[in-house]
Amino acid sequence: MNTFSSDHLTLGVCDYPEHVPAEDWPKHSEQQKQIGLAIVRLAEFSWTKLEPVEGKFDWQWLDEAINIYADQGLKIVLCTPTATPPAWLIQKYPEILPVDEQGRIKKFGSRRHYDHASPIYRKECVRIVTAMAQRYGQHPAVIGWQTDNELGHEGTGCSYGGASAAEFPAWLRTKYGSLDNLNEAWGTSFWSQTYNEWDQIEPPNLTAVRQANPSQVLDFKRFCSAMIEQFQILQIDVLRALSPGRFITHNFVTFSAESDLYRLCEKLDFVAWDSYPVGMLEFFATWESEEVKSSYARTGHPDLVSLHHDLYRGLKGGTGFWVMEQQCGHANWAQYNPLPADGAVKLWSAQAWSHGADVLMYFRWRACHMAQEIMHSGLLHQNGKPDRGFHEVAELDPSNFPLAPVEAKVAVLHDYDSLWAYDQQPHNKDLSYWLQFTMFYSALRKLGVDVDIIHPRQLADKQYKLVVAPALTLMTDEIAEALNKYHKGLFVFGPRTAFRNESGRVAEQGQFEKIEALVGCQLTNFDSLRPTLKQTIKEHNSSSTIEASLWCEGYAPTTGAPIWCYQGGPLDGQAAVNQNGLVTVVGALSLELIEKVLVHNLQKAELDYMHLPDGVRVSQRGTRKLVCNFNQSDVCWNGVTLPAVSYQWLTN
Ligand code: GAL
Repeated sequence: MNTFSSDHLTLGVCDYPEHVPAEDWPKHSEQQKQIGLAIVRLAEFSWTKLEPVEGKFDWQWLDEAINIYADQGLKIVLCTPTATPPAWLIQKYPEILPVDEQGRIKKFGSRRHYDHASPIYRKECVRIVTAMAQRYGQHPAVIGWQTDNELGHEGTGCSYGGASAAEFPAWLRTKYGSLDNLNEAWGTSFWSQTYNEWDQIEPPNLTAVRQANPSQVLDFKRFCSAMIEQFQILQIDVLRALSPGRFITHNFVTFSAESDLYRLCEKLDFVAWDSYPVGMLEFFATWESEEVKSSYARTGHPDLVSLHHDLYRGLKGGTGFWVMEQQCGHANWAQYNPLPADGAVKLWSAQAWSHGADVLMYFRWRACHMAQEIMHSGLLHQNGKPDRGFHEVAELDPSNFPLAPVEAKVAVLHDYDSLWAYDQQPHNKDLSYWLQFTMFYSALRKLGVDVDIIHPRQLADKQYKLVVAPALTLMTDEIAEALNKYHKGLFVFGPRTAFRNESGRVAEQGQFEKIEALVGCQLTNFDSLRPTLKQTIKEHNSSSTIEASLWCEGYAPTTGAPIWCYQGGPLDGQAAVNQNGLVTVVGALSLELIEKVLVHNLQKAELDYMHLPDGVRVSQRGTRKLVCNFNQSDVCWNGVTLPAVSYQWLTN
């Protein structure tokens, strides 16, 4: 359900009227209307403004703000303010505060200072959300709700003490039934870790002297994810009851790893996310060189951004999504915060649309005069004068961006258990789940191929021409069944596929145990390469060679056949790429190799692809194809000049 509907892209903004004098509100709402904004998000983090002391509510400012915006015809999205428990609440119930991995209590004074498992905090959240929903749940201008803010982000997914520590053993008991099952699943015979009472089990932090048991960490991640889910559901239930006909969504983040988002979004009407292309580039250690990173310093890396659009479109099976916070100037939280290039705000808006966004909300309306985000920009400067983003947004005509489904023919598989398992034991300082994932994703984008990012279980819903699984390292029975059942199309698997079972242990018969018939090979060995080590790989029956770095694993074909083999080094002669009919496994990390294997499979699938210049990307929504140039210089491509930092429609 989405109470707001349009046949083209809709623009909006995140505003905090409580940060500026009330006499500015009428002018702000008029300006918003003038530049084509249709939706305003309000009340995020506003708990103390709404309830300055326990039980005494001050609705007057928000009543007035909502009415001023509504008078301009703007629609309102309200946020539950639960990301910021007030000082008086923390003073009364300090046990709400979370405990960090070093065992320290995180103090009041920032945000998301709460333990998701805290029964007191959950009760308090239900109380404030109920009060808000009773007040505004049926207001004609209110079209929907955002729960909390970026649940679990900024290292707030887990609390290592308090309510979470108390709840963890009980959660495990429900999951395993008996300690024998748990001890077996976690492999506690190793280093004498066997438990004989549930209460002996603690969160896996501060373990002497080495890392904690990875299966315990994996379950703790799952537990924290479940606590976040329960925390959100309590709010959703209140909003459903008191605000009928309004949507409920949540704003997810970049490279989220704190909870299983497929589960977290189950009860939401649609997914939203917060897109900060420049900050994202600075934050994420990509496989790209520093030189390439600099070239995207003012536009963001196109593939890192589109990966998130595709991921969030896919979470609920390919439905439209919102960008709840779109960067529209410089941010403040990355190590470096360059100003976006001229045209970048328009370019990001068009890019988001082409990947399936239905609504785009800029963050934020007016730059803040005080506190933690003073250095962050908005559409207006602090002094109320328009900043660069304002003019770009005013130039956008949303009616040029009709809504239509994105019809991808290639799926890329993603799973949070695999992410958690991979990142605990990456076995190489420079590797991570997301890095390996983005290498495959980016290769596809460079070939101009539109993709859906989905969970393996979603394969049951749609037939794809090619399925790529970059880093599916944890193979549950459910995923194995989904893959084995789906065995009707082309598959490409990346390194470490199916290495672990449900509890994060290595499968009894080693890698591929549950999908060996599919892949037709067995693992012989794996090799983690330090940055100075390279490994040569040679194409079978050809003299062409490629260099791999970071990770190489060798395969012995059973029913498959090698198509690339290692040359020299400890894996000499073993298969680096194995092909078993429609199924290919790539064991080495090399962008060139990945691209070659993908091209081979795209050809087999009779799918179109192209070799795009660096920084140029093509995407299609409905019948409209968009070409975007993320370079800060003009690019001549296919006889067309693509001006720096711009987009244009592609005609066939
Ligand atoms: C987001 C957050 C906003 C604001 C913004 C600054 O992650 O949701 O509240 O802090 O970052 O870029």
